[in-house]
Amino acid sequence: MRIPEETVDRIRQATDILEVINDFVSLKKRGSNYIACCPFHNEKTPSFNVNPTRQIYKCFGCGKAGDAVRFVMDIENIGYGEALRYLAKKYGIEIEEQEQTPEDLLRQNERESLLIALNFAKTFFQEALLQSDEGKGIGLSYFRERGFSNPTIEAFDLGYSFDQWDALLQEGVRRGYSREMLEKAGLILIKEGGKVFDRFRGRVMFPIHNVSGRVIAFGARILKVDKSQPKYLNSPETAVYHKSQVLYGIYQAKQAIRQEDVCYLTEGYTDVISLHQAGIKNVVASSGTSLTTEQIRLIGRFTQHVTILYDGDAAGIKAALRGLDMVLEEGLNLRLLLLPNGEDPDSYVHKVGAEDFKAYIRTNSQDFIDFKAGQWLAEAGDNPLRRAEGISDVCASITKIPDPLKRQTLSQRVAQVFHVSEQSVISEINRLLRKQQDQSRKDSERQRQTRQSGTPAPEPSADDLNALFADAEIDSSESVNKSVWEPDERVKPVKTPISFQEEECIRLLINYGARELEPGITLCQYILSELHEVDFQTAPYNLILTLFREAYSRGEILTAGDFLNRPTADEVDFQHHTIHLTTPRYEISDGWLKHEIYVPSEEEISILADAAYRNILRIKKMLAEQRMADLQQQLRDLSSKSPEEADLLLTEFMHYKRIDVEISRLLGTVISG
Ligand code: UTP
Ligand code: MN
Repeated sequence: MRIPEETVDRIRQATDILEVINDFVSLKKRGSNYIACCPFHNEKTPSFNVNPTRQIYKCFGCGKAGDAVRFVMDIENIGYGEALRYLAKKYGIEIEEQEQTPEDLLRQNERESLLIALNFAKTFFQEALLQSDEGKGIGLSYFRERGFSNPTIEAFDLGYSFDQWDALLQEGVRRGYSREMLEKAGLILIKEGGKVFDRFRGRVMFPIHNVSGRVIAFGARILKVDKSQPKYLNSPETAVYHKSQVLYGIYQAKQAIRQEDVCYLTEGYTDVISLHQAGIKNVVASSGTSLTTEQIRLIGRFTQHVTILYDGDAAGIKAALRGLDMVLEEGLNLRLLLLPNGEDPDSYVHKVGAEDFKAYIRTNSQDFIDFKAGQWLAEAGDNPLRRAEGISDVCASITKIPDPLKRQTLSQRVAQVFHVSEQSVISEINRLLRKQQDQSRKDSERQRQTRQSGTPAPEPSADDLNALFADAEIDSSESVNKSVWEPDERVKPVKTPISFQEEECIRLLINYGARELEPGITLCQYILSELHEVDFQTAPYNLILTLFREAYSRGEILTAGDFLNRPTADEVDFQHHTIHLTTPRYEISDGWLKHEIYVPSEEEISILADAAYRNILRIKKMLAEQRMADLQQQLRDLSSKSPEEADLLLTEFMHYKRIDVEISRLLGTVISG
């Protein structure tokens, strides 16, 4: 169906980008803009910016940018029309759709068709539950037994699947859904002999929603006692359902998670639903999988605080310990709570009621140090060896935390809990950190060797400036970095075109790092996020860049003063570089002033911003060109390569060519200062 032009206009007028984006990430005000950690790439310091006046967003980390419609398209992975429909629904605008043209039909991609088929199935299961005798007699009475009220059943779109071979299939086909589509949506099974039947039969249905509330899969609980069947049957992975990325209940919980600024993480469908009904709505479950990093990042879009609520049995403890390190690794704050043995959150909230349940969380949840220490001390008793193992184990979790400041505060706590000196804890943490660094160095060495031994590099996927950097880094570690650290180059860097740009970049950082290019965005932040994962090829500049990065991760921006007093290290004479880079390049002569010749001054923010922007573009362009030269070299000797390899090289070459052309265009259109 087509959406008429006037309706499109009305939707666009009603739309407020802050409201739209706030449904997916928590925005914080910074100056006149709003910032957040980018939902499109993984990051720990926010570089995702929303400008409410211009109604646009831009991520300085990954480069994604656009308006509200673009945002919905990208975050939901849907087309333009679907994004408009989404916004229309959000703002209560009715769409009188026009007949679909054949082109419209073609454009409706598979993802959208699957979502539509899944939505049909959701409604079919709901009607079966609420309107059919079988559904009411079996499904609804089961939910009643579990204490689910009507509003709860509605809030979670619960349903029932008939105990028949093909009830959904028949209704689906009658309504024009193809078997192929229903199969791709995970709703039916097609057996080898051609037998076709419904995947879910005679079960109560728990639809799984994505963040924006669309049904992407189902969980289904058996009602009969049948040992040969799993208790819960879940949808298979499909084009719209990647179970490792989904949290059950996130759609119903996200508002409350943001309000309460904490997310309760449980194991099951019924835990989420029962707590929600009891008024504790900031709850999700990692149903059907053990917790994944992607799921933790999804929570991180709404809050930085997670409380794990698992069963108190051995399996629950094991799962909690596994989840613990993963949550810490993502930089989130973590508490844990084990329920009394034999209870899960669902059974326990029914037993004690909402108020006591909340009180139980308050008094019994522990931070991870107390939690782990509790487990160890209970078991180790006076055995000094086991205690030492315990300390080491807690320290291992601390090393997962990305923020060094947090690590330090926590080492005091460990010392107190285990009654040992803080110094011994710190040196244990440092020992573990070094071990991990050695390990990851070995891993990347091994990866590099595999790559050199002929496995083709993966084809770059996104047509996006940033794809450049992942590859550029690999590139520099192979061919460039090695030579950079030759002794003579350390003293006096060899001037290559890229080293001039690197020098300029360092000059901007040292002179103007803390200046705000836009409200809330310092030059330092802009440059570091644009150069995310890029290493400079000139050793001294790379060292200075690294120092800026380290300081920035502690929340500091270095200045010329920091370098002037810094002793020469790794043969880099910081004082010399700083003096060179902070001396004004142009002296304003009397003659110029007399003739009223305008001397561009970097004190002016727009000129400074322009200089930084151009510098970053030039660096990216040079990295792209280096990579292209490298590829060209490989393409010259095609005889030794298979057609597939050649094809891959050529595709990659074209990818960088497009980047190169695009940057040239951008550089051409920027007004030079
Ligand atoms: P539980 O067995 O603890 O189920 O599994 P539950 O949520 O308490 O359900 P009730 O109270 O018996 O109805 C916890 C979660 O593990 C997944 C489901 O997501 C379930 O909610 N699970 C369990 C499966 O995916 N398949 C299974 O066969 C069992
Ligand atoms: Mn249960």
